[in-house]
Parts: sequence; C-alpha cells; structure tokens
Amino acid sequence: MRRFILAAASIAALTVAGPAFAQSPIILKFSHVVATNTPKGQAAEKFKELAEKYTAGKVKVEVYPNSQLYKDKEELEALQLGAVQMLAPSNSKFGPIGVKEFEVFDLPYILPDLKTLRKVTDGPLGAKLLKLLDAKGMTGLAYWDNGFKQMSANKKLVAPADYKGLKFRIQSSKVLEAQFRSLGAIPQVMAFSEVYQALQTGVVDGQENTWSNIYTQKMHEVQKYITETNHGYIGYVVVVNKKFWDGLPADVREQLDKAMKEATAYGNSQSAKENEDALAEIKKSGKSEIVKLTPEQDEAMRKAMMPVYKDVASRVGQPLIDEFLKETGRSPMN
Ligand code: LMR
Repeated sequence: MRRFILAAASIAALTVAGPAFAQSPIILKFSHVVATNTPKGQAAEKFKELAEKYTAGKVKVEVYPNSQLYKDKEELEALQLGAVQMLAPSNSKFGPIGVKEFEVFDLPYILPDLKTLRKVTDGPLGAKLLKLLDAKGMTGLAYWDNGFKQMSANKKLVAPADYKGLKFRIQSSKVLEAQFRSLGAIPQVMAFSEVYQALQTGVVDGQENTWSNIYTQKMHEVQKYITETNHGYIGYVVVVNKKFWDGLPADVREQLDKAMKEATAYGNSQSAKENEDALAEIKKSGKSEIVKLTPEQDEAMRKAMMPVYKDVASRVGQPLIDEFLKETGRSPMN
C-alpha cells in the first residue's frame, strides 16, 4: 500500500507543483473513511458543492468516501505525501503522526454537549491546536462534528464490571486505550473499515461509536446490545496539504476558505439530527437492543473512567487538560 501511496504522490507532485496550477481545473482530492450519509460525508459533499461554485469551476473537488482510497493511517500518510489534498480524520487519529494533543477530545465525559464543545473549537484553544499541524505539513482548516459515542457488544453493558475481559475495537488513541483499560477491557486498534467484519467474526467483542457510524456500517446487525452512554465525543479536524494550500492562487484560497466556513456551519448544524435519525433507524430495525442507563449506573461508569485523566496527563499534557476544562467550565463527573 505504501508503494501505491508513493506512486500516487509522485504523480500528484507533478500535477500540483508551481505553474501546474495554471492548468484548469485544479483537482482537490478529499478522502474519508465513512459513508456519504453521515455528518462528515454530508459536510464533505457540501464543501464540494460550494467550492466548485465559489471558484466558478477553477477547482474540482473529488470526494472519495468509505475508505475507497485509503484507510485511517494510510490517509494521513497520503496527505503528507500529496497523493490527496484534504481529509477530515477524527481527533483520535493524529497520535500516530506525532500530534497527541487532539486526544484531549477523547477523554471520557469531557464534553456534555455540542454547545460546550463549540467553546473549545471556536475559541483560542481550538485555534492553538490547529496550529500544531503546520509542523506536520498540513494546515488545519476547521472542526467538524460527528457526535457522542455509544458502547456496543453482544453482552448487555450496564455496569463497569460488564466490560471486564471483553475486547473492544478502538481508534488509534492512547486515551481511548486507557479508557477501556480503566474498565478492565482489552482495547485493540483497528481501521474503521475493518470494524464490521471484526465484530461479525468475533475478532473483537464490542466497539464504541456514534449512532450514525454504527448505523451506516451496519454494526447494529452484528451487535445484540448498544448502551446509550454518550461517554465520549467523535469530531473531525479538516486538514489540507500545506504545500498545496499555500501554493494556491490567493483568490482561489479565499474562495475555498469561504466554502469551508459555510460547509462547516452547515455540517455542524445537521450532525445531531443525523445521529438522531440513525438511532431511529436502528430502533426500527429491531436488530439491536438499545440499553439506557439509570442515573446511578451512569455515575458508576463516570467514576470507573475518571482515573484515565491521571493516566494520560503526561501524554496529553496536564496544562492542556486544565485549559480545556476551564474553557468548557464543566466537570466530567456531571
Ligand atoms: C472511527 O474510526 O470509528 C471514526 O473515527 C470514523 C469516522 O471517521 O467517523
């Protein structure tokens, strides 16, 4: 696969470098791993529509959903090498390229709702985090929402003890690893495109994800129970290859910036509803039982996961965690 990325990158380099921008249209490849009918899929389509409109066809955006081009880890390498120009990986996926700070978003119960999230992403901390990407050859353009995660397995997950010994698929985040370890479970990093099959064949017992991802990947068809925990958040950082971005004619970059701002506002206004709709579809399918926690059970889950904050403080940075909590003005225990 790496050879394929390199080959694609060298072709991309030929077409992207300098005066090649004179050619029309400029092709912007946007690769992602989820289905089109998800919050990220819809925001990407909106960006394409607006980008092509505002640049009057000077830019053609090609969106490749569903890991059609690259899986999680490969897509970040492909972006750095210039084989694709734009991605929107989740906050949990930047650790492997050496930016672990975005994993702060993975801390259990750190965000009570999307309104609180905005205080961080639209504020100085959000901007500071995006700046960290410059050193990795990418420019952070926006934060896109998915929503809150739920836990699924073939076993009813009600109390922390129910997780003990079960294998859970996780994204490549050490905070998520610590989270499942705090429950006595066994975390296993796996690309998103492989989760359905891993659940179906029993390679892993369970997973955590948003309603929209669970539904569009049909995970509910191979998991008997989904517990409505809302214990963590999945959101995305839209990144663009820095050389590509900086090399664009200034007017085109401005038009793309405008398209990105509007696509972000659109996507983030739709995400909650898309997750609600997916939940309704899962319920309608009758394939998975939706388990609700009592306030006492919810509190027990929060308590069990609180040690994660200490476990990962040295990785994510205690000052960053403190700054995050200061901006949200909330405690993860309520
Ligand atoms: C996951 O890997 O579970 C998610 O990050 C996929 C996505 O992009 O929403």
